[in-house]
Amino acid sequence: MNNESKKEKPSFGYEKMPYRYVAYYRDGKWCDGELTTDEKVVLNESAGVLQYAQTCFEGMKVFKTKDGSIVVFRPDMNAERMCDSAMGLEMPPFPKDRFLEAVKQVVTANREYVPEYGSGAALYLRPVMFGTNAVLGVKPCEEYQFRLFASPVGPYFKGGVKPLKLKISEYDRAAPRGTGNIKAGLNYAMSMRAITEAHREGYSENVYLDPATRTKIEETGGANVIFITKDGTLVTPKSNSILPSITRKSLLYVAEHYLGMKVEHREVYLSELKDFIECGLCGTAAVIAPVASIATESGTIEFPSGEEKAGEYLTKLRETLVKIQSGDIESPQGWLVRIE
Ligand code: PLP
Ligand code: COI
Repeated sequence: MNNESKKEKPSFGYEKMPYRYVAYYRDGKWCDGELTTDEKVVLNESAGVLQYAQTCFEGMKVFKTKDGSIVVFRPDMNAERMCDSAMGLEMPPFPKDRFLEAVKQVVTANREYVPEYGSGAALYLRPVMFGTNAVLGVKPCEEYQFRLFASPVGPYFKGGVKPLKLKISEYDRAAPRGTGNIKAGLNYAMSMRAITEAHREGYSENVYLDPATRTKIEETGGANVIFITKDGTLVTPKSNSILPSITRKSLLYVAEHYLGMKVEHREVYLSELKDFIECGLCGTAAVIAPVASIATESGTIEFPSGEEKAGEYLTKLRETLVKIQSGDIESPQGWLVRIE
């Protein structure tokens, strides 16, 4: 890649970076990891990941601040969640300190690819773990690979911050006592049909309901959902089968402590949608993407914030989060990890 193309704003897609970190789990322990230039993975045809989807992943962003420093947003939270995901799939957790060391090594080795301050882009980090040995009967693998690679990314949704049109999916995302609360690859595999159908119908994403009663809002295929009430309260849906979004947790804190808003993390009923004045999606990739409308079986709910731009509250939340991430305003202790 030449210097010119490095400056272009990327879309949300994979671009091969010079270095990634790889570590192997064999004989009951994680071996020492190292950086490699090889982006390819060679697997047995019967590897656990291929047969029974024994894999989980994470997503983090790296930013450049005004003074040119390089910072990672809350990687300790991703390290922790990846351990939870691994345990949920009977995989050996990758130790948190080694996860953070891998982050440091990969960012340092690819530091010239971190997009410029204020560009709206970031270097996305994707840690992934998968079962590598051959299995035929259904059982956990004995050998695994942990890999952490990077790719410069721009906005997840085409159109940047133009409000999205969503639909309530007829499909369910995660069972009540299933894998919805961990970042298992299988959660995304089962959303492929639903997202393809939604796109074909002209929607950007699906909102999934709780499968047991189909009366409560869970989340979308790749982000949590957030709402603003008429009195300016930030409401985020609560359920055991929602992925605990680090962005959502951060926004609850920002709303309360930076913007003086009231916050509620609680069950949200489908019947309440009509009462909210703003709606958005939040996640590492999505940041905060405003939502214009949600199509339901009994008609489309259009949020008063409209189709043209984000509403006042989500705009303030997004601006504050982005300023924290790029070091423009002081961040809570430990949120930004500086890469020297
Ligand atoms: N929900 C799902 C299903 C996701 O894939 C993601 C993305 O990571 C999120 C929520 C947002 O989580 P986070 O804010 O930790 O990126
Ligand atoms: C992220 O936001 O990091 C994710 O993993 C979501 C995915 C749909 C790209």
